[in-house]
Amino acid sequence: MKRREFLGVAVAGAGSLLPGCGGGGGPSGMPMMGGPLPPGGAALAQGLPLKSLATLANATPEAGRFSAALVAAPADLSLLQGRTTSLWLYNGLLPGPVVDVREGDHVRIALENRLPLDTTVHWHGLPVPAEQDGSPMDPVRPGATRIYEFDLPPGTAGTYWYHPHAHQTTAQQVSMGLAAPFIVRAGDDPLAHLPEVTMLVTGIRLDASGQVSPGTAMDFTVGRQGEQLLVNGGRLPVHSVRPGSTQRWRILNATSARYLRLSLDGHAFTLVGTDGGLLGAPVGPLSEVLVAPAQRVEIVVTASSTPGARFTLRAQRHAIDTMGMGTYAAEDLLTLATTAESPVGPLAVPSSLRPVASLGPAVARKRVTLTQSGMGMMAGAGSFLIDGRPFDMNRVDYVSTAGDVEDWEIANQTMMDHPIHVHGTQFQLVSRGSGGFATPAPYAAWIDTVDVPSGTTATIRMRQDMPGKRMVHCHILEHEDAGMMAVLEVRPR
Ligand code: C2O
Ligand code: CU
Ligand code: CU
Repeated sequence: MKRREFLGVAVAGAGSLLPGCGGGGGPSGMPMMGGPLPPGGAALAQGLPLKSLATLANATPEAGRFSAALVAAPADLSLLQGRTTSLWLYNGLLPGPVVDVREGDHVRIALENRLPLDTTVHWHGLPVPAEQDGSPMDPVRPGATRIYEFDLPPGTAGTYWYHPHAHQTTAQQVSMGLAAPFIVRAGDDPLAHLPEVTMLVTGIRLDASGQVSPGTAMDFTVGRQGEQLLVNGGRLPVHSVRPGSTQRWRILNATSARYLRLSLDGHAFTLVGTDGGLLGAPVGPLSEVLVAPAQRVEIVVTASSTPGARFTLRAQRHAIDTMGMGTYAAEDLLTLATTAESPVGPLAVPSSLRPVASLGPAVARKRVTLTQSGMGMMAGAGSFLIDGRPFDMNRVDYVSTAGDVEDWEIANQTMMDHPIHVHGTQFQLVSRGSGGFATPAPYAAWIDTVDVPSGTTATIRMRQDMPGKRMVHCHILEHEDAGMMAVLEVRPR
């Protein structure tokens, strides 16, 4: 009841403000959702084999150490026939190279910034010291090189990613191509017997001249719209497997704002991992899984035993606001094709994977309110805030003590869903509530980004172990850049 009333008011407000929107594309002022293509029929090549991603080479032979160099620089790729597209890439690759390391490793990565603006590398989801976190407080100037150095503690095995996190230009830098997976492996991985595939989903939006189109006012309101989805840099790639084979898929949502409600035609799958690694036990069979921006899932898929068949992995229609501006139409992502070979038998998934430790009772409680300035969606850039305030890196918004377990109630009073991310640690969802009712999380899982739908409250339980200043923000990158971010200061005990 409460939610409905709130939305009614908000919808009315937005309607009256609609003409003020300068960023729309269509006659109604709304951008087209299907992904605008440059005129003249030029389109991204599609249907090529799924690329396996390049791995960032380890320059040191020493056991337990990983040392490498990343260069963030402009690069021209020919994505459209007869045209080059200017991108910003890590080591010239779209997407960037995978960092593939092991629990216990000491990681040392030098970043050279050859971009025309400040950048950083943020190691999304990893428990790195605050000064190695690549936060907006720690820019790497154009022409400068910065060495990031950190350890990967036992228990961190999982699927992470890295991306720029520069003040107010994160959305732009990611839209230009800067994002890549970061995989941490465990020595005792219970799924080591499964062949695995990493699928990094990104978006690209090109203008009529084949260049990445800049963010619009609409993008800064509801998140970047109208992108074509790419998997490992390819449009609608084909992933071929022998019929009946079982694989572990690591799927990363590196889009700016596109919620991926994934389904695979004709198949159910098993969820085995989330942002921070494996679940305690497999969950499934599932017909779909929602991967919010910045989130990752690991799923186990057993392909159809029919030879020569094709199935579509797609992102189903998903509405993230109440007016349809941030509603995403169903879109195909990839084709799973079975070869003409004879089928193989499935591989088993153990019934227990890796314990997800309980954090124990919370000793403190915080409340974070997602707010909106102005009445409607169209109030303009910067209209989504945390506790009514825009980001200020010189202000401390929350204070925690290292080692304390805390419950954070994140209440979304806006008209849109927001994926809320906290740096420095993985946390667990405790419950979701709306209209006075709370539903406990169905299973324990480590996550670093929690989707908080409009009108609901998500309660997370978290412990920060390392002192320093950490970012708390919406991972719709335009919202982050427009100020939907806060500073958590973790004080030493
Ligand atoms: Cu993936 Cu603060 O970011
Ligand atoms: Cu992060
Ligand atoms: Cu948001």
